[in-house]
Parts: sequence; C-alpha cells; structure tokens
Amino acid sequence: MEKILVTGGAGFIGYHTADYFLSRYPQLKAILVDNFMRAKLYGIPTNMQWENIKLLKERYGHRVEFIELDIRDHEKLCKVAKNVHVIAHIAAQVGVPTSIKNPRLDYEINTTGTFNVLEAARKADAIVIYCSTNKVYGENVNKIPIEEHETRYDYADPKYKGRGVPENFPIDLSAHTPYGVSKLAGDLYTQEYHYTYGLKTGVFRMSCIYGERQLGIEEQGWVAWFVKAAIEGKTITIYGTGKQVRDILYVKDLIKAWDLFINKKEVKHGVYNTGGGPENTISLVELIKLLEEKLGRKMEVKYADWRLHDQKVYYSDITKLQQKLNWKPEVDKLKGVEKLIEEKLCRREI
Ligand SMILES: NC(=O)c1ccc[n+]([C@@H]2O[C@H](COP(=O)([O-])OP(=O)(O)OC[C@H]3O[C@@H](n4cnc5c(N)ncnc54)[C@H](O)[C@@H]3O)[C@@H](O)[C@H]2O)c1
Repeated sequence: MEKILVTGGAGFIGYHTADYFLSRYPQLKAILVDNFMRAKLYGIPTNMQWENIKLLKERYGHRVEFIELDIRDHEKLCKVAKNVHVIAHIAAQVGVPTSIKNPRLDYEINTTGTFNVLEAARKADAIVIYCSTNKVYGENVNKIPIEEHETRYDYADPKYKGRGVPENFPIDLSAHTPYGVSKLAGDLYTQEYHYTYGLKTGVFRMSCIYGERQLGIEEQGWVAWFVKAAIEGKTITIYGTGKQVRDILYVKDLIKAWDLFINKKEVKHGVYNTGGGPENTISLVELIKLLEEKLGRKMEVKYADWRLHDQKVYYSDITKLQQKLNWKPEVDKLKGVEKLIEEKLCRREI
C-alpha cells in the first residue's frame, strides 16, 4: 500500500485513521478530504477540525495532503482518488436527529456520497473500507426480548445474551431512522461493489467508537460528550431510562481491524460487526456513575422521552472478526474511558 485516501479526514475517526496508517507504514502517503460538515452542522468552531489536519501535517509533513472537498462532487473525487490503493470511507452525516430533520442532506451525503466513493474506487481498483453502523439493524434489535436490571437492560434471549448481535441478524422489515437507512444503502452498495465488480471491500458495522480528539456532542459521540459534560459541569439529557446498553470500542482498536482486513490477502470481502463486544458493554447510567467516581463529583442529569427508534440494547457479536481476522479489542472500557478523561482534563476545549 503506497497511497491511502481518507474521506472525512478532518473528523475523529478520519484523524486516527491517518495517524495510525502513517505511523505504521513509513512509505505511505495519505490524502485527506473533508468539507467540515461536522463543524457547520453542529456549531463546532471549524478550527477544531482544522487542528486535526495541522497535527497530522506537523507529524508527517509532505506525506499528508489535505484537500477541501465534498464527497457529493463525483468528478473531483474521482480525480483525487486516481492511483490510490485504499479508500477509508469515513465521511458521513453522522447524527440521527439531523437525519430526521434533514433527510435529503443525510441521503445525499451518506448514500450518494458513498456511491461516488465506490465509483471512484472502481476506477482506481482500490480497496474500500466502509464505516457502517449498528443502526442498519434498526428496530429489529428491539424485537429481542430484554430483561431489566438495576442499572441496565440486557438481552433475555440466550441466543444473544452475553454474545451480541451477529452479522446475519435481519436488516429489513423495521424502522431504522433515515440515518440508519442511508448508511444501510451505503453498506449494501459497498457489498455489491465486491460481488459485481470484484473490488475488495470491508463493511464494518460499528457500534460506539470513542477516543481522544472526539468532538462529542449530544447528538453523536455520547461517551466523549458525557466525559466533556462531566468535566465542564454541563447538564446532560438522558432520553429514556438511561439503562440502554452499548458496547464501546476504543478508536485505535477499530483501525487495527481495518489494517488486518487490508493486509489479509485471502480475504476479498467481509461484513463485520465491530464493537467492544459483550465484555465492553456499558449503560448510560453506568457511565455517569463511573465518571462521578473518577471525578469525585455529581453530574447534572435531566431525563426526557425516548428517542425515536432508539435501540434499548445493542452489543456486537465480534466472533467473526476474531475468527476471520484474528482481531480482538485491546483497550477495555475502563482503560479507554480513563484515557478520555485524562485528555479532556488536559485540553478542556475539546
Ligand atoms: N463514532 C461512532 O461511534 C460511529 C459509530 C458508527 C458509525 N460511525 C461512522 O463512522 C464515520 C465517522 O464518524 P466520526 O465519529 O469520525 O464522525 P465525524 O463527524 O468526526 O467524522 C465525519 C467527517 O466527515 C466529514 N464530512 C461530512 N460530510 C462530508 C461531505 N459531504 N464531504 C466531505 N466530508 C464530509 C465531516 O466534516 C467530518 O469531519 C461515519 O461514517 C459514521 O457514520 C461512527
């Protein structure tokens, strides 16, 4: 691999992707594209996204090229993707509430944008990594019976309890939210570009990814948002009971899985549920308790109605990733959250 294109390169996972691959492969060049949509949509100062690019440039010099580009611009994207070997397609409209408010924008970025990336990859014969999501399973997940414990829900069905949701779980015949649908369309297209055009494509259905340099906001990036709120004394709103459960995955572990996929010659395609798995699950109220213990103070919490089509329990069955790519998360939830607290205490503006 000589050249990687990272879409969404000024974002959280995009930054870590470039950093990981550039540090691991000294000959590699990275082209990053982004249009700062996260800053524009969520009122985050654009310079916080620029800082990611600046840091990468300081660390890797001419091996990093940044191009301000919207993935909806197919022609420009194809020019930029010429001669790249891998495309890590990370750019997206990432918020569920924004997708409900503005489904066209969500559709155009996530579905058309992904289609453009795939077409560019087809022309360049590049390997594609696609950031999919647990939201592709939509409310089907809520059809699994659950049990209620003091601080969390869990699956009651032994098929899923302690194991998680596998890749062959039904994806249709349920609500998803527009975000879930636009990401699912991209997920299926990415699979199809392997089946029809023979591209090597990896679809990673990610649950909650967290880590340093995440600009967490209420709408997306809840672990980072809770840590930031806890440190800055901001009030957080819990939608529902707070007993909803997710498996959280430290960002560098995610990218290791991509690296294994790219380098495993005999693997030409795969769909992988990618999260911390059953050992790294946490509920919202459990994270609040953990933060209160670590910081030695109470958090301000408000409660509101459930969000539309929210999944009460989601955690990934990561057996396939373990078996096919010999991957497992290395940073557990406690260590990971501690890293985030340390970083946010040092850099309060993030
Ligand atoms: N963070 C998570 O927990 C999580 C979970 C599941 C899936 N995902 C997926 O992972 C990917 C990255 O998530 P993230 O947490 O790094 O979010 P992020 O918002 O930090 O990164 C996305 C980047 O894409 C850019 N972008 C948006 N629209 C664009 C466009 N039209 N053209 C060019 N760039 C554009 C944004 O400015 C941003 O920098 C997304 O595809 C998201 O759907 C994330």
